[in-house]
Amino acid sequence: MIKKDELYYPTEEFKKNAWVNDPKIYEEAGSDPVKFWEKLAKELFWFKPWKNGFLHKPPYFQWFAGGKINITSNIFERDWETRKDRTALIWEPEPVNEKPRIFTYTELLKEVCKCANYLKKMGVKKGDRVGIYLPMIPEAAVAMLACARIGAAHSVVFSAFSPDALRVRMQDTGAKVLITADGYYRGGKFIDLLKNAKDGIKETKIKKLAVVQRSGKTPWQEEKDFCKAAEMDSEDLQFILYTSGSTGKPKGCMHVCGGYTVQANWTGKWIFDFHKDDIFWCTSDLGWVTGHTYTIYSPLLNGITTLMFEGAPNFPAPDRWAQIIEKRGVTVFYTAPTAIRMFKSYGEDILKKYQFNKLRLLGSVGEPIDESAWLWYYNNVGKEKCPIVDTWWQTETGGILITSLPGMGPFKPAFTGLPFPGIKVEIKDGNLVILPPFAPGLLRGIYKNPKKYSETYWSQYGKKVYFTSDGAIIDKNGLIRIIGRVDDVIKVAGHRISTGEMEAAINGHQEISECAVIGILDEIKGEAPAVFAVYNGTRPAEEIKKEIISQIQKVIGPIALPKEVYLAADLPKTRSGKIMRRILKKLWAKEELGDLSTLANPESVDKIKKILYG
Ligand code: PRX
Repeated sequence: MIKKDELYYPTEEFKKNAWVNDPKIYEEAGSDPVKFWEKLAKELFWFKPWKNGFLHKPPYFQWFAGGKINITSNIFERDWETRKDRTALIWEPEPVNEKPRIFTYTELLKEVCKCANYLKKMGVKKGDRVGIYLPMIPEAAVAMLACARIGAAHSVVFSAFSPDALRVRMQDTGAKVLITADGYYRGGKFIDLLKNAKDGIKETKIKKLAVVQRSGKTPWQEEKDFCKAAEMDSEDLQFILYTSGSTGKPKGCMHVCGGYTVQANWTGKWIFDFHKDDIFWCTSDLGWVTGHTYTIYSPLLNGITTLMFEGAPNFPAPDRWAQIIEKRGVTVFYTAPTAIRMFKSYGEDILKKYQFNKLRLLGSVGEPIDESAWLWYYNNVGKEKCPIVDTWWQTETGGILITSLPGMGPFKPAFTGLPFPGIKVEIKDGNLVILPPFAPGLLRGIYKNPKKYSETYWSQYGKKVYFTSDGAIIDKNGLIRIIGRVDDVIKVAGHRISTGEMEAAINGHQEISECAVIGILDEIKGEAPAVFAVYNGTRPAEEIKKEIISQIQKVIGPIALPKEVYLAADLPKTRSGKIMRRILKKLWAKEELGDLSTLANPESVDKIKKILYG
């Protein structure tokens, strides 16, 4: 890249070949965003055109209303002659000696049709919800696409979530079918997923399990018939994906067929600059929104090759990820700052033997990337030539909304950059908000919970302003820097975890009367949870701490495991009984506490100091 003062720009060569390289796009899009998105939408395949570009009945809105579309027709039927023999999916298993699996678009379509017909045979119909609890195997992609093919909304649950977490989500969706697998490999171990799935569907409406044999052949019945794509209304449900909010219960974000397809297609094309020979590796698991949009839908909509990796990027050796980039000729690599910090911690030496000649563009997502991780990524992976798109978005937004475009820049370490053309954002009192017409892919609701939808996103600045729950600042160039969440959500290794959800889990322990969870600094994961639990019994502290950890493991899963657990006799509270998490955070970070006179029990502070500092 070219550096001017504190800003970086793409090389002339990169710029010349990029889909977007003229800043006029911002003016064009900004002057009439609805017209702009309609122009982009027209390049997709619609069974029937829409009547209205954008309709707004705050806090609800619609895009492309009246249109009929199917996302899979835009993957498989659109442009078919040029893409049918291209590689759609490369799957790298974790065991090094196991054979990778590679699918052309034609082969993938066949698998999708077989699975779609199988689902139909199981009684799944358009409009039904289907649970997917699968590891990173090709069948996970096939299952998602098969649901989309027949117009059923998938709800993918991350395979490392516990049976309890699966149950809560499946109860909410009311799904009758769950697609799962007998197991998978992670860090060298074979994990028995089926046992968790069977556990997790107790007390749900799920009557049928479709089980993929990870260790053998897939169970899809030999069904030769081609499966036609269902014609979906623009505003029909494409999928529900659960995410954590401030309170204990996860929220089912609703994404719809038309707007999501348009945004997934165009953000990928312009932000990752997808060209026909690209091999894209987005390291996200399909259980997260990044996996939905950028491991699967966006690259496939653009007719390029997507790479899926089953295992951990540092197994069996710390440079496993680098080996894969080199071996597969990955051209665009998209990962989270946590992974970058982990790679960095192994030292530069292990990267000396890698040239990464094919790599031309890098991406970051999920949490703020600090300057030193950015520079390391830029120097050691991008070899000073690759632009870095630091992409800001959320489960709710469906696709990326803020990042500088690779063919133009400017890029600045720790800054996500400029809003995507047509996206209007503002920073009000330090809070990042999005203004009408928002984005075609923004969520349309929280499943079965309209009240929560209004309260969470549309109440802070009125019904016409989307509240992101992120704090942000803007620099003189208009580049945006995300500071972090302003609610009770923490980002642990890029995973979104609700401290409220963790507290609810811990409070399930019979002998814990109350507790507070805060995010503390972690060198690799960015943030990690720390638990302060009130215990006044006589059993050994170590035993209680272990039980707290296993309680979290049981209700949520291993991703939420705390870095520290402290037992206290009391927690600092206001007179109205609210636990002052802010004070705990400051105590942990050894920061100035300020005025404590509003506390009902100021003496608790000294006791916690003793626990923390000895
Ligand atoms: O706090 C922001 C952070 O991740 C949150 C959204 O998390 P989730 O719904 O799990 O989606 C993650 C992947 C899109 C945001 O509210 N976040 C996401 N991307 C960035 C980020 N923080 C800083 N920089 C980013 N690029």
